[in-house]
Amino acid sequence: MKILITGGTGYIGSHTIVDLIENGFDVISVDSYINSDGSALQGIEAITGKKIKNYKVDLRDKEATENIFKENPDIEGIIHFAALKAVGESVEKPVLYFDNNINSLINILDNIVKYDVKYFVFSSSCTVYGSPEKLPVDENTPIQEAESPYGRTKQVSEMIAKDVLQNTGVKAVMLRYFNPAGAHESAKMGESPALPPLNLVPIITETAIGKRESMMVFGDDYDTRDGSAIRDYIHVMDLADAHTKSLQYLINNPDAPKYDYINLGIGQGVTVLEAINAFEKVTGEKLNYSIAERRPGDIAAIYADYSKAKKLLNWNPKRKIDDIMHTAWEWEKVRSKK
Ligand code: UD1
Repeated sequence: MKILITGGTGYIGSHTIVDLIENGFDVISVDSYINSDGSALQGIEAITGKKIKNYKVDLRDKEATENIFKENPDIEGIIHFAALKAVGESVEKPVLYFDNNINSLINILDNIVKYDVKYFVFSSSCTVYGSPEKLPVDENTPIQEAESPYGRTKQVSEMIAKDVLQNTGVKAVMLRYFNPAGAHESAKMGESPALPPLNLVPIITETAIGKRESMMVFGDDYDTRDGSAIRDYIHVMDLADAHTKSLQYLINNPDAPKYDYINLGIGQGVTVLEAINAFEKVTGEKLNYSIAERRPGDIAAIYADYSKAKKLLNWNPKRKIDDIMHTAWEWEKVRSKK
């Protein structure tokens, strides 16, 4: 079965492609390289032995996007990863975020309907829940006012996809990720953003390798067990596995709801200081960090109730924070030599 991956040279897209290939799917990719250098395609080939076709297309370009479907009328499913994802940047450039994340989605949805694609998986985020009152967070937790334009694009995208797809034959699932991190166990692939990363785990590995002199822990005065903020870090290969299982779920369950939302986290909250300790313990490296002010827009704590993913997808995350730190560090050592 042919699956189109949008954002296939990005972090989660490239890891998912590997997992899909290993599960027998035929994959093509579209990516504008706006925040990747395309090197993930070599990683995919090194791991799977397969060369992936990537269309270098900006999905805001209607004509170029439709051409992909004209050339591949046998696309049966789409996993839509392509989007900008930096929370802070989205506050500075809201129009860019709405233009890119929303218009690309609209063009993809337009072609899904036109070209009779059957399955749609969307890359959403736990950011749709804002600062939740009750933990862990399940899918019935009310959606709250978005904390950033980035968060708003995820909320609006879920709504647009629902409106467009509900009267069609397309089956869709929205995957709400918690905090993806880590790298492929082979160290042949990991996160390689074109812009400096802003997320905790790549900042930790870049500090340890010496690309950054030091790093900051944003806040030690939250109401948590050690004062630093709690997140649910999910290994990117467990996340990739959940995408493959989501497609298989849609394909194998004709009675599945036409439209659903599924949380993807491991159900365990880890504080920033615990994450740093895990890194130091697993790698034997010492991190140069200091405590700083809270980062604007951050919430104190969030972690997932993933029982729906377990039940519907038969998905059980296998990796924890130590595996995340180990694989992220192995990848950083390879990446920094490139
Ligand atoms: C945010 C978004 C998430 C999005 C992700 C992608 C929210 C609630 N979450 O996750 O939806 O998918 O970005 O970029 O908007 N930290 C430090 N020092 C650092 C960097 C981070 O202490 O140098 C802390 C943060 O304060 C936070 C934790 O580490 O408590 C994780 O931060 P980060 O990796 O940026 O992810 P989120 O902000 O949770």
